[in-house]
Amino acid sequence: IMSSLTKYSSLNAIRLERFGDDYSRTGAPWHQLAWKLGCAGIILLLLSVIGLSVLVISLIQKSPMEKSSVDIQEKRNYTTGNILQCPKHGLQLRDKCFTISSSSKTWNNSLADCSQRESSLLLIQDQEELRFIQNMIKYEGNLYWIGLNFTLSEKKWKWINGSLLNHDILKIVGENKENSCAAISNMKVFSESCNSENKWICEKKLKPIRNKVS
Ligand SMILES: *[C@@H]1O[C@H](CO)[C@@H](O)[C@H](O)[C@H]1NC(C)=O
Ligand SMILES: *[C@@H]1O[C@H](CO)[C@@H](O)[C@H](O)[C@H]1NC(C)=O
Ligand SMILES: *[C@@H]1O[C@H](CO)[C@@H](O)[C@H](O)[C@H]1NC(C)=O
Ligand SMILES: *[C@@H]1O[C@H](CO)[C@@H](O)[C@H](O)[C@H]1NC(C)=O
Repeated sequence: IMSSLTKYSSLNAIRLERFGDDYSRTGAPWHQLAWKLGCAGIILLLLSVIGLSVLVISLIQKSPMEKSSVDIQEKRNYTTGNILQCPKHGLQLRDKCFTISSSSKTWNNSLADCSQRESSLLLIQDQEELRFIQNMIKYEGNLYWIGLNFTLSEKKWKWINGSLLNHDILKIVGENKENSCAAISNMKVFSESCNSENKWICEKKLKPIRNKVS
């Protein structure tokens, strides 16, 4: 664009010079008028170039929107490829991303931290997930809060999603008493005082793109 503009303006300059030469004797007003016309031409050209590029850009941005949502999904899948993968710091099993905290907090504050990250304190749904999490825990002796606590009213262990613990999936070592929360190590799951401070694990479910679009 710039080079064609310069060409255009130098062409104009040449024309103006000739114009000026031929009619120089007839006086300055012609000369001035020619210059004004030339300048106006250049400004018009600039404006139309800007206008055209705005139009083209808006057309480019608009056109995918008008296609069906399936096209958008495929395009997104195609261009980003790994949209269904966890962020760098998260570890993935199936459709879940897990992150381990670096600091330690009480159980209720760990619960609050996960929800602030739009995730949940860990829910262990089967043996495969239990093994995956325990392999993820590198340091022996470290305990990590999970989303499971002992409810005084029912005298049962309950996940934070409201389901009762299925003891076939995991066994809890320690007392079943008031103010107990579950913490996992690389070997076992313990009943701990909810007020003690431990690291914790958050999980986040990866959403299929379909849900995001609709
Ligand atoms: C998008 O990619 C995921 C895996 O990354 C795949 O399971 C899914 O079928 C793809 N969707 C489309 C519309 O291609
Ligand atoms: C967690 O419990 C402690 C003491 O029981 C309380 O001071 C704190 O505000 C609670 N935090 C949240 C996020 O509920
Ligand atoms: C709650 O989480 C547990 C453990 O992952 C799972 O077994 C159960 O099906 C979940 N309940 C609901 C209602 O999602
Ligand atoms: C156990 O978790 C429930 C939420 O699932 C919460 O309302 C309750 O206060 C927790 N109990 C303790 C002792 O933190």
